[in-house]
Amino acid sequence: MPYVAVHHLEKCRQCGACGEMVACPGAEELICIGCGACVLTCPHQALELVEAPREREVTVEINGKSATVPEQISVKDTLREAGYQLAVSHREPGLFAPCEVGGCGSCAVEIDGVVKLACRTMVREGMRIGTELPEGYVPRRTVVNFQGHSMGGVGTPRQSQGNNGFYLEAVCFTAGCNLRCPHCQNWLITYLGQDEALTPQEAARRLTMIREGLELNRMTVSGGESTLNRPWLTMFLREMKTLNPDPDARFHIDTNGSLLIPDYLDELVDAGMTDIGIDLKALETDTFMRITGLSDRNLAQNYKETAWEAVKYLINNYPEKVFVGVGIPYNRGFTSPSEISRMGQRLFEIAPSLQVTALNYRREFRSNIVKPKDMEMMVIRDILRDMGLKTVIVQTTAGNIGP
Ligand code: FES
Repeated sequence: MPYVAVHHLEKCRQCGACGEMVACPGAEELICIGCGACVLTCPHQALELVEAPREREVTVEINGKSATVPEQISVKDTLREAGYQLAVSHREPGLFAPCEVGGCGSCAVEIDGVVKLACRTMVREGMRIGTELPEGYVPRRTVVNFQGHSMGGVGTPRQSQGNNGFYLEAVCFTAGCNLRCPHCQNWLITYLGQDEALTPQEAARRLTMIREGLELNRMTVSGGESTLNRPWLTMFLREMKTLNPDPDARFHIDTNGSLLIPDYLDELVDAGMTDIGIDLKALETDTFMRITGLSDRNLAQNYKETAWEAVKYLINNYPEKVFVGVGIPYNRGFTSPSEISRMGQRLFEIAPSLQVTALNYRREFRSNIVKPKDMEMMVIRDILRDMGLKTVIVQTTAGNIGP
């Protein structure tokens, strides 16, 4: 169903959160694409997603066939209205449209002969839409903040050392995410539209320049969610490998793992991925839904199990080729020590030597959770160690404490 955001002026206190916390993908053209990002930010419930009006209609052509749809909806919703399937996981067919804010570039279609994003282009009378992209089309994605990173991520081996004594990795961040976590720590990037959409080659060149300048051999792509645009990511890794032929170079992906089905993992390893950090979120589906903001239980179950299976698949199939680290978020506001213990048990059954990082989830974005005290995090570390895991790192206010 197509949606549009409405502004309840009587509830608005003009705090400015909606304008500051997310970059509205339709702001430039003064349109609402119904992504709901602004609704997430409002602390006063002054913004609401409602069904888009249907009084007026437009007629368009989709893959040569005529279709009549409501006016004021995006091309993505136009396709859905016309009976085309939209997908948010790689286990289902259809046009992949997982972020809805113009960040990932996955929903590109041909509109009146030009490739545009279906989620952030509004339909109009007489539009011609083609779901097959022209041959040779090179994917684009919003990628920002190319920089040195001193901490690394859950997929950075504990023993890694930066060559210049400070930075560990050269990193870039991809916009768009398939989750809507209330505690998102990178919301400015997650909800960023297509301001700096780069080809894989352009992004690889920029990250390589940072790596060379800092004399590092580790390169990371994080997010948002780095794995949303599959052809983009695969091409990016291949280009990185070509530009950085040093046999010691490490190519690290930081991900929630929810889309990483086995053939996608094979593709990433083949393209050059050497390290991966997977944030597992939860063991129970209810907890996963609380952490990610998902309301569709089946989808939450699918995402959660795909991430867990991805860890197992990599350990079983690429033990020598890929370093795997796992992140477990902790905050007593959404999970329990007992669930952490059961996560530890499941990870132990996959591989006792797996590097596990307990992450202290705190108040970020639109969440009010209280940051766990360091002592509380040390208890979580001990719970994971007691399950037999040998490499447990814990995030504290004093930095990461490892084995
Ligand atoms: S779904 Fe349209 S850019 Fe991500």
